[in-house]
Amino acid sequence: MIILGIESSCDETAAAVVTDNREILSNEVLSQIDEHAPYGGVVPEIAARAHLDAIDTIVERAMKNAGVKFSELDAIAATGGPGLIGGVLVGVMTAKAIAAVHDLPFIGVNHLEGHALTVRLTGDEAGNEIQFPYLLLLVSGGHCQLLIVEGQGSYKRLGTTIDDALGEAFDKTAKMMGLGYPGGPMVEKYAQNGDPVRFSLPRPLKGRAGCDFSFSGLKTKVRQTIENLPEGPVSEQDKSDVCASFQNAAGDVLIDRCEHAIDTFLEAHPNGTHLVVSGGVAANQSIRGRLNALCKAHGLSFAAPPAALCTDNAAMIAWAGMERFIKGDTDDLFFCPRPRWPLDPDAPKAAGAGVKA
Ligand code: KG4
Ligand code: ZN
Repeated sequence: MIILGIESSCDETAAAVVTDNREILSNEVLSQIDEHAPYGGVVPEIAARAHLDAIDTIVERAMKNAGVKFSELDAIAATGGPGLIGGVLVGVMTAKAIAAVHDLPFIGVNHLEGHALTVRLTGDEAGNEIQFPYLLLLVSGGHCQLLIVEGQGSYKRLGTTIDDALGEAFDKTAKMMGLGYPGGPMVEKYAQNGDPVRFSLPRPLKGRAGCDFSFSGLKTKVRQTIENLPEGPVSEQDKSDVCASFQNAAGDVLIDRCEHAIDTFLEAHPNGTHLVVSGGVAANQSIRGRLNALCKAHGLSFAAPPAALCTDNAAMIAWAGMERFIKGDTDDLFFCPRPRWPLDPDAPKAAGAGVKA
């Protein structure tokens, strides 16, 4: 079976073709970084227009590179939310149009489910398929959650952020020092030459019960730390030390929260085998290394998609669509895009304002 996937929920216009044999036949990602960089973050209106400009070309390219004709597809999947609604609409309408013209089933995919299931497409280090259930740390620009993935469409949220997502904290840290957008990769790069213990930064919620996250206090302290540096432009070494100290603090928080989640996961699933990390921040090598060590200490295996499939892409959308298509779970053309779409609708609301999950 072959599925075309489309992703347009944030600042990447992407299309990909995957098979039920876990092959990625093509994977086209057009980043809008240059358009948003002057603003230090994604501007929704600019994003929607840029998706509209690019989507036809990207879909055409994905089909051409896969060597597949529309008539050979089994279904079309597109991100149906959550995300910036203008962009989501562009992807959904494009997919619906292709589905209508070629008489193909349409699947409106939950973007978070795309991140959650990517690892089942890419497999473990040996390429073997990861089986349900697994523990998932989903860390991106908009989300920071710990979930038990019991199966496609079946998620138990153990914790979420009560304020900011970790990717957002990475982006703000970079922005405060003018390192460019998106900030995550720049912070990681600078951190490589920095002193992770030079600045004393908070580890919000570390040591507390449960699996929730909070990053706004850390973000504020990073800002104050930068303000307290000597006047004038921030030196390259200071930038590196701030980045390393921030990444170290964020990593400590992730490890602490994951440790709690591992206990809960193994209580519920004593034969559970994997901790999986996904979402843009999962591209961070330092965080991957620390999670890998944590898994070793707890007798779990660690799995993560390759870095390029951690950040937004359409292969993950096509694959999540595939897992649903195999179960006969498709949508009709009346599907409405959803700006909010939690993976675990029954999860209790986390304490605190502005919860994004
Ligand atoms: O999953 P994603 O591409 O988009 C969302 O669904 O949000 O995640 C983007 C986020 C951004 O905040 C970006 O700065 C962060 O992932 N990110 C990283 C790295 N690469 C991307 N954060 C830390 N280290 C990285 N190497
Ligand atoms: Zn994402």
